Amino acid sequence: MPNDRFDALRTIVQQMPKAELHIHIEGSLEPELIFALAQRNGVSLPYESVAQLRQAYDFADLQSFLDIYYAGASVLREERDFYDMTMAYLRRAHADNVRHAEIFFDPQTHTARGVPMAAVVGGIFRACQDGPISASLIMCFLRHLSEEEAIATLEEALPFRDKIIGVGLDSSERGHPPEKFMRVFRRCKELGFHLVAHAGEEGPPAYIETALDLLEVERIDHGVRCLEDPRLTERLARERIALTVCPLSNVKLRVFPDMAAHNLPALLAAGLRVTINSDDPAYFGGYLNDNFEAAFAALPLTLAHAEALARNSFGAAFLGAAAKRAHLEEVDAFFSKASHTPTADRTHV
Ligand code: ADE
Ligand code: ZN
Repeated sequence: MPNDRFDALRTIVQQMPKAELHIHIEGSLEPELIFALAQRNGVSLPYESVAQLRQAYDFADLQSFLDIYYAGASVLREERDFYDMTMAYLRRAHADNVRHAEIFFDPQTHTARGVPMAAVVGGIFRACQDGPISASLIMCFLRHLSEEEAIATLEEALPFRDKIIGVGLDSSERGHPPEKFMRVFRRCKELGFHLVAHAGEEGPPAYIETALDLLEVERIDHGVRCLEDPRLTERLARERIALTVCPLSNVKLRVFPDMAAHNLPALLAAGLRVTINSDDPAYFGGYLNDNFEAAFAALPLTLAHAEALARNSFGAAFLGAAAKRAHLEEVDAFFSKASHTPTADRTHV
């Protein structure tokens, strides 16, 4: 792409209003904050310095990342640790023109170490109330643990029901199909939670199908492997199921060999309701705008795609109708101005 055209498009994706729907708050823990919290809480780390920890961020696959991610989260002990981590993310997201974030958290990573559920939910929620953007919480069950443990976690979280809008499913995907969690998701649906699940990141397209049919999820986190199954792809498009795609994560975890090989353009061309997200920004090389910039730099994406991605992010959010409309009007206003920028071509790259 000619440089001036890309510069104009980069400015647009940076400045456009957007929502983030796939961010693990423990994955926003920067090495500097890991070391600061380790010191504050007297936790010893198997790394000598921030630089040495950062050097370890070279992942072969999802599991090799998760091992380091859970080790990093071990410095979180007190309510204020969860608050500080969440506030740092919200400020960073605000700088990227994120207007609304739906934040995943993994309570089992913390309660298993004796951290009270009240400290986890309380600290994250309080930061969301004080932070510069609107934000809500989605509690994830760790799929490498049992369904009984997920049910016990749900029970423990019920006193905080009003602080949590939905539940999700994350951690090691292969060998842990969605159907393992059918009962707990059914109970969550009865309780009125929104439902999402990671599926089709490393796992096969069949996991996307069972997440929809057996867990009755409303969005699929990642879902990039859906294109291996044309029937499923058509269904996702027809049912307007949002995919929360995380480009830098997919490259770092070797779902794709490099950004130029990412299937984002094909997902969009298939008519899917794609959104762009950061997943674990402290580990994968960037926050939401870094993901947009990397994808737009390497792939044949246009101004029309930028607009669709911004619209999809609010359209797929778990927001009330009035808030959604207000955000979408802001997107419309932004793009009606942007489309008059001569270098930002609407039709082709
Ligand atoms: N937990 C944090 N990031 C994750 C990812 N990309 N996939 C599954 N579980 C996760
Ligand atoms: Zn994720």
